[in-house]
Amino acid sequence: MKREGFNSKAGAIAAAAGSAVGLGNIWRFPYVTGENGGAAFLLLYIFFMILIALPVLMAEFSIGRMTGKPVTDAFKTLSPKGYWYGIGLSGVICAFVIMSFYNVVAGWTMYYIYLSITGTLQGLNPDEVSQTFTNTMSDPILSIYWMIIMLSITGYVVARGVSKGIERYSKILMPILLILIILVCIRSLTLDTENKGITFLLSPDFSKITMKSVLEALGQAFFSLSLGMGTMTTYGSYISKTQNLPKSAVSVAMIDFFIAFLAGLMIFPCAFACGVNPGSGPGLVFETLPNIFNQMPMGYIVSVVFFLLLSVAAVTSSISMLEVLVDFLLSKFNIKRPRATAIAVTLTILLGIGCASYSPMLDFFDNLSANVLLPLGGFFIILFVPLRVGAEKMREEMEAHGGKFKLFPAFYFLAKWVAPWAILFIFISKMLTWIGIDLFA
Ligand code: TRP
Repeated sequence: MKREGFNSKAGAIAAAAGSAVGLGNIWRFPYVTGENGGAAFLLLYIFFMILIALPVLMAEFSIGRMTGKPVTDAFKTLSPKGYWYGIGLSGVICAFVIMSFYNVVAGWTMYYIYLSITGTLQGLNPDEVSQTFTNTMSDPILSIYWMIIMLSITGYVVARGVSKGIERYSKILMPILLILIILVCIRSLTLDTENKGITFLLSPDFSKITMKSVLEALGQAFFSLSLGMGTMTTYGSYISKTQNLPKSAVSVAMIDFFIAFLAGLMIFPCAFACGVNPGSGPGLVFETLPNIFNQMPMGYIVSVVFFLLLSVAAVTSSISMLEVLVDFLLSKFNIKRPRATAIAVTLTILLGIGCASYSPMLDFFDNLSANVLLPLGGFFIILFVPLRVGAEKMREEMEAHGGKFKLFPAFYFLAKWVAPWAILFIFISKMLTWIGIDLFA
């Protein structure tokens, strides 16, 4: 059977950006930035995006397109001997872990559509808004219910194949999301009369940087760009040979960064204006946004549409993770796509029930994936480039569209000498802090 592929260049970028742009940008980025002190963290994040995440994205795209295979087979094809196919396997495990907590949070965004439609959030004061979120989070039945709905939608789309539908939807819905974010940003910025939010996001205080924030900035870069577990390798295998890969990778990274940055501009000013602590953790978005909606013209409708689009953004990301699992099951067992999807969704629900019922498990999975599994995955993927692919083949793939990739030497230098060792260094230093040795102290 011929492997499916994306139809157009714009479609491929929309799909990859659809995977990248999700809760990572609007839910995770603000709360992680908030917990790590704001602007200095943002700079670290940009630094890692360019020097580490972007080369890993290019590597994932290239490895996928070079082999045109599901993720486990892709690494095996390029390196039949040795344990490199383990990258794919760990990606599969990682996909389960991320899906299980991701869909709990995605379920909350869906529940907030419902709350917006019924007008429940209208007229609440900031304390009541925070209380509403606390109640949501501590009600396992509610969280499980919405998580199952979310996963069913994701499963439905994946079961039918990554259809033109999702590509087309991403192309229409993402721009609408962007416009809404900008609108909400404007309202939020005008609430912040003392510019505390802007200062928090834009004027760095380097004394706030710790080993923990270095690792978290790296983890966030991986999480936000969907790296380190084969999502982008799988999507790379759907990209046409005539497409300029390096350029597409840069576009995806820029879109992804831009939306995260806007989310920061939308949330921090409001957090300060409403008295919500920016370091208050995973509830940040849910505790700030309803307050802005309550204070803007047509807030009711903006709130409904906003949470709707956020859910859509979450679904397109969730799909990309489920696709890795399904593609794997299909390649290993003799079953049909709908059944493979049903199995993957059922297992995810079981794990998700844990995250929905016990929030420390959600936090733990969130941390484990972004700060341990994805950077390790990224380390092996980028190391794979000089060790198993080589400069010549890599260049050939990156220039397969018939153009020149002028920055190739820079890319290869980063891939060989910078990215893997930086990841390893950050990772080991972090491990050392666990046993009480802090290199940065
Ligand atoms: N990048 C997505 C977001 O920001 C989440 C996501 C999709 C993801 N696929 C992934 C994260 C693979 C890590 C790995 O919401």
